[in-house]
Amino acid sequence: MKVHLKNNVYWLGKIDWELKTFHGDDYSINNGSSQNAYLIQEEKTVLVDTVWSPHKNEFMENLAKEIDLDELDAIIVQHGEVDHSGSLVELMKRRPDLPIYCTANGVKSLVGQFHHPEWNYNVVKTGDTFDVGNGKALVFVEMPMLHWPDSMASYLTEDNILFSNDAFGQHFAVGELFNDKADQCTLFEEAIKYYANILTPFAPIAKRKLQEVIGMNLTIDMIAPSHGVIWRDNPVQIIEKYVEWSDSYQEDQITIVYDTMWDGTKKLAHRLAQDIAKLSPDTVVKIYNISHTDKNDIMTEVFKSRAIAVGSPTMGNDILSSVAGWLYFLKELKMKNKKAAVFGCYGWSGESNKILREKLTEAGFEVVEPEVRVNWNPLPENLEEMNSIAQALV
Ligand code: FEO
Repeated sequence: MKVHLKNNVYWLGKIDWELKTFHGDDYSINNGSSQNAYLIQEEKTVLVDTVWSPHKNEFMENLAKEIDLDELDAIIVQHGEVDHSGSLVELMKRRPDLPIYCTANGVKSLVGQFHHPEWNYNVVKTGDTFDVGNGKALVFVEMPMLHWPDSMASYLTEDNILFSNDAFGQHFAVGELFNDKADQCTLFEEAIKYYANILTPFAPIAKRKLQEVIGMNLTIDMIAPSHGVIWRDNPVQIIEKYVEWSDSYQEDQITIVYDTMWDGTKKLAHRLAQDIAKLSPDTVVKIYNISHTDKNDIMTEVFKSRAIAVGSPTMGNDILSSVAGWLYFLKELKMKNKKAAVFGCYGWSGESNKILREKLTEAGFEVVEPEVRVNWNPLPENLEEMNSIAQALV
């Protein structure tokens, strides 16, 4: 199935309704996803990206229904990650001479993954163009570390379509493909989850690249990313969101994240939520038990927050492994400009607060001084102590 975008440009991808995880099992998919490839049929016939290898046969069948594969003039590989390049081997079996346009790092990733150094690679840099005929050209923009060193975007002149690859994408399946057809609440939830969990570590680079792209004064009628909806209704709105998200983003939200053994630390977490709500009624307060909640969904809430509080009981002179694993992921994301507080119960040695403090500092959080460390099960006066944390965070 191909879907018309504009003039002679079509979507030819895979809507992946069944997908549950991504990057192995590292990213949870709650609302399906898509791998978007595009077909440009001007004087030249050009493919922009492909789809993941489990769908390669379906992709090749669909492509062969639309065009004679011998007429394909080039493929643009904007990014070597296999969700977009996974059908390339199949395509190259049919067209071993097909010119591949990609960045220098793109060649490295394709050769490294598919072991075909003999393919017809054509290295492009920012500003290079590919003439598709009828007065139109693809202009390439390198997007290193957004989110791989090999990433790039391509802008189709005259039609004013920005093929942005992973940037501006979402893991979200929408049958009608376009942003104006999607449930808006879910769309922006999925877009911010995608940004928070995949692009946050590269926020300073994203910020610079966004300024560069904005400075090019391109007319953008449509943004066609490689996952999720195609932005045709006010496409600039997602660029504006990225500008906000890449600038130490925070809302008036405080998120409490904890795990518990015998509910002592849980009692502290819930008391903290009550105290914050009393002190600052407008602040959104959310509480998550790490073991019962998807880690990517918690991380989206942390991304939105101006402060967090993390609780763990002491277990084996350390923190619970569930909390430790989550903190490791938190550090990877390099979030900026957020406060944190620590709390937890213990029976014997009681190291958890000290370790939480160290891990949060390493993750780039400003850890406030007040903390609550309770021996055994919290008494009413221990619960009262949570107010000191609430005040420091509010
Ligand atoms: Fe970085 Fe959608 O792959």
